[in-house]
Amino acid sequence: MHEQEEQRRYVTRIGLMNHPQDRAEAVERWRRGELVAFATETVYGLGGNGFDAEACRSIYTVKGRPSDNPLILHVADAQQLEMIVHIRPAMRERVARLVQCCWPGPLTLIFPRRSTVPDVVTGGGDTVAVRIPVHKEARLLLREVGLPIAAPSANRSGRPSPTCAQDVWEDLQGRIPLILDGGACEIGVESTVLDLTDEPTILRPGWYTQEKLEQILECAVSFDPALGGKGVPRSPGQKYRHYAPSVPVRVFVGEDAWMREQLKEQVRYFHQHGQKVGIIAFENLKVAEADAFISLDAKEDLQRMGQKLFHALRTFDGQVDQILVSGVEERGYGLSLMNRLKKAASGDVVYAEPKE
Ligand code: TXA
Ligand code: MG
Repeated sequence: MHEQEEQRRYVTRIGLMNHPQDRAEAVERWRRGELVAFATETVYGLGGNGFDAEACRSIYTVKGRPSDNPLILHVADAQQLEMIVHIRPAMRERVARLVQCCWPGPLTLIFPRRSTVPDVVTGGGDTVAVRIPVHKEARLLLREVGLPIAAPSANRSGRPSPTCAQDVWEDLQGRIPLILDGGACEIGVESTVLDLTDEPTILRPGWYTQEKLEQILECAVSFDPALGGKGVPRSPGQKYRHYAPSVPVRVFVGEDAWMREQLKEQVRYFHQHGQKVGIIAFENLKVAEADAFISLDAKEDLQRMGQKLFHALRTFDGQVDQILVSGVEERGYGLSLMNRLKKAASGDVVYAEPKE
């Protein structure tokens, strides 16, 4: 397509994020308007100079991302906020609490923007998303460059977010000059997006849950109702098919015994139709009849599930004809994981008891 024709080709190199020379190369490239992928604690980001409209435009081209889906600016510390956002007096107290409790960390805040931020970052809107990552080398890098770095997840649009350098390579090799390997992501799920421009509203669930944010802010925090499937979401990213491998995904949520039965029955069914089945499930739900199995370890350890989920979906992509996944209850962090799983499954979720 037109966009692809415009795209420059590179010989992509994988550097090491904990090597000062490789970080220096990333900084150089960012200053020149090029893109560099790097690790954060959530997922890998595809970074470009957030003040350089041309560099930000190329982020959309490289990802194949719709231009109405705005970008998150990453900064090294709260002082750098001043150059990109307005903090209205009424917001100050809330911002201060969140900065103290959650930053650096997997929380993205939506603020009124300053005019220093190019339209291409905000999708033309009057707000901007900002985050300070806690990943050690990501912070070093941001400090070294001294610019806000616009970075969406470093996947081709629609694919599961990358949680290791190899995942980024699969999607973006040849399209960017450098990928900085900072190891496997500790969280593995994208940041919570919280809109502070009005009453606090979660636009994308993540590591920081509604309960936790309410505790910190000592006020009600609502969910964008569109996250439940109705209406137009305030976070444009939520309306796109996302996190999805090209193979169909079906999710099961219920008691262990019920899930095990379901998984076995489904494997039998798909085998009768000559299809290969991959299962991604908790260790105790290992179904021997499946063609391939990836363990999510113990179901009590939701962080572990988050770390492994996207990479597991990528691993089975192209390897099997159907993916079956064990889901979790939609509360606390489980709600964030199910938000991603429902998208991966395009809504194909089977519950033990009928839900409205
Ligand atoms: O953990 C993360 O947030 C990762 C790492 C790399 O930091 N980044 C990430 O970026 O997930 P991305 O672009 O894949 O997702 C950003 C989300 C999208 O759903 C987008 O619509 C929303 O944030 N967003 C960005 N700016 C916004 C704004 N001004 N108002 C509402 N939503 C916004
Ligand atoms: Mg993304």
